[in-house]
Amino acid sequence: MPICLITGANRGIGLELARAYARAGTTVIATARRPADATALAALAAEHPSLTVLPLDVADAASIAALAAAIQGRPVDLLIANAGVIGPRGGIDDPANTAALWAEVMAVNVTGVYLTVRAVLPGLRAAKAAKVAILSSRMASSKVASGSSYLYRASKAAAANIGANLAVEMKPAGIAVGIYHPGWVKTDMGGAGADIAPAASAAGLVQRFTHLSLATTGVFEDYAGASIAF
Ligand SMILES: NC(=O)c1ccc[n+]([C@@H]2O[C@H](COP(=O)([O-])OP(=O)(O)OC[C@H]3O[C@@H](n4cnc5c(N)ncnc54)[C@H](OP(=O)(O)O)[C@@H]3O)[C@@H](O)[C@H]2O)c1
Repeated sequence: MPICLITGANRGIGLELARAYARAGTTVIATARRPADATALAALAAEHPSLTVLPLDVADAASIAALAAAIQGRPVDLLIANAGVIGPRGGIDDPANTAALWAEVMAVNVTGVYLTVRAVLPGLRAAKAAKVAILSSRMASSKVASGSSYLYRASKAAAANIGANLAVEMKPAGIAVGIYHPGWVKTDMGGAGADIAPAASAAGLVQRFTHLSLATTGVFEDYAGASIAF
């Protein structure tokens, strides 16, 4: 039975990915910063006993170490680095773009991705043909730069860069790595005016993750399979 580990699975796209994999019969390790508050995830776990909820704050090294200890010895076939924050959306003069917020957004969207992958690496190595999916964004692409949301764009570009390097480094170990834009999705982050529902994004992403292989490792694409330039 394949095992899928998802970060930030208590709401939004992460929750819908957890639902899709649980319904498909995959063993899911769904992480949340505060499992006690993750009521939708608890309901999903009650419906699907193959889904386990574990605590994980990707900006907290001790929390990452605790996750690594909790899953020690278990193979992980698919790691989905989904947890993310958007930060202030303004331009260069936006007073909200403080050094403290830069550090916070980078800690979650960049360092959080790196440290989570590293912590789960023993599990990925123990699985056959393991995969890592990094949720970046089309906004990471320098080809669609429009001047705004500096913290988010820069952090998601860095996350995509981590994915590209990881793909090269992990290929000899048989681990494929993909970088994804989930679409503009109606979540707390995407807002009510976004293009698609979280379930539609998750359905597309699941297909893309299935398609990911060592032949396509390093891919940067959206939930429908359209290629994105770094
Ligand atoms: N929605 C879009 O249109 C869109 C577009 C492009 C890319 N994306 C990317 O897709 C991913 C999911 O986005 P979404 O729309 O589902 O966002 P969302 O609704 O805002 O949910 C974000 C998730 O990340 C978690 N999270 C935030 N900080 C965390 C931390 N320090 N440690 C662990 N988990 C943390 C949140 O947990 P809490 O509930 O505890 O805060 C929540 O589960 C993100 O990486 C995002 O950048 C989204």
